[in-house]
Amino acid sequence: MITVHCTHFCIVLTPLLRPCMISPRPSTLLTMTDPFSPQWTCDGSATFFSAEFDELFHSEFGAAQEAEGKFVVPCELRRLAPTQDRIRLLDICYGLGYNSAAALAAIWAVNPACVVELVALDVEARPAQAAIAHHALAHYPAAIVAHLATLSTAHRVTTPQFTAQFHLGDARQTVQTVVRSHYQADAIFLDPFSPPKCPQLWTVEFLTQVAQCLAPTGILATYSCAAAVRAALQQAGLQIASSASVGRKAPGTIARWDGTNLPPLTPREQEHLATRAAVPYRDRTGTTPAATILAHRQQEQAHSPLEPSSQWKRRWFAPPASTGLTQISG
Ligand SMILES: C[S@@+](CC[C@H](N)C(=O)[O-])C[C@H]1O[C@@H](n2cnc3c(N)ncnc32)[C@H](O)[C@@H]1O
Repeated sequence: MITVHCTHFCIVLTPLLRPCMISPRPSTLLTMTDPFSPQWTCDGSATFFSAEFDELFHSEFGAAQEAEGKFVVPCELRRLAPTQDRIRLLDICYGLGYNSAAALAAIWAVNPACVVELVALDVEARPAQAAIAHHALAHYPAAIVAHLATLSTAHRVTTPQFTAQFHLGDARQTVQTVVRSHYQADAIFLDPFSPPKCPQLWTVEFLTQVAQCLAPTGILATYSCAAAVRAALQQAGLQIASSASVGRKAPGTIARWDGTNLPPLTPREQEHLATRAAVPYRDRTGTTPAATILAHRQQEQAHSPLEPSSQWKRRWFAPPASTGLTQISG
């Protein structure tokens, strides 16, 4: 039985009956007593709220659904698993571990013999440990939960079928260890808090390092479709495309070195990349504070010759006065 205390309600839930009642900002009491207390998303999976970043760890529509739709499916793991005897994953911002759990479940469902290597990055292990303690991953196979429980406390797993390393610290630094080890991931999950809240993990400089960890045929997936993120991925040398929408959310982005199999961006998305919204976040030292990154980008946007994104929005989203219909891109 789980008790959820939120700003406007206090309810008792059983794991089988979890209404979709998520508060974007749980009470101060809740975050003080247990900073990683489960919030139930619309698909019945749990997420946490970060008081530091003032943001949920997942979309309210579903943590498990997001892991599947924004990361596992776009990285084509079910297509890859039968064709490879070894798959390498890089999970950036491991959090509760949903993306890794969903990836392992997908791979081993189609190829139980596949050897998986996982490198996970996060600034701390507490969300991963709390996810295990609160049984947030309980709907994944028990063997996977056992591996990830070990990873959350020992920070390393070594078995014949699964090896994993958990690098703790600012991903701007830990990614350099991964680059130096010449790790080449078949799939990279890029899952930081949103760009306005955590700009340091969406910069051209950080994503250039991340790209160095992507195998020549690998796929990077992220939930974000922000023009600044897409522009940074392009500046890192990658080709980009949209991944499918999940819930009522916007599409995510996939990126790879070779763009031949990628669907083209729509005219609306291409034009978005020619607006000031596409001015990327920059972090030339690798240690710039988030507030400085945001302020510098704002200044650069103010002096940019690019079209303001408000004009682009009016062009593509404003309802024509005569019909009241919204213009949608093809
Ligand atoms: C949106 S949550 C990730 C959710 C996660 N992928 C999951 O499936 O549960 C963002 C994560 O970024 C981590 N984080 C925040 N700043 C970071 C940094 N500078 N370096 C590494 N991780 C960071 C947080 O601890 C948090 O776990």
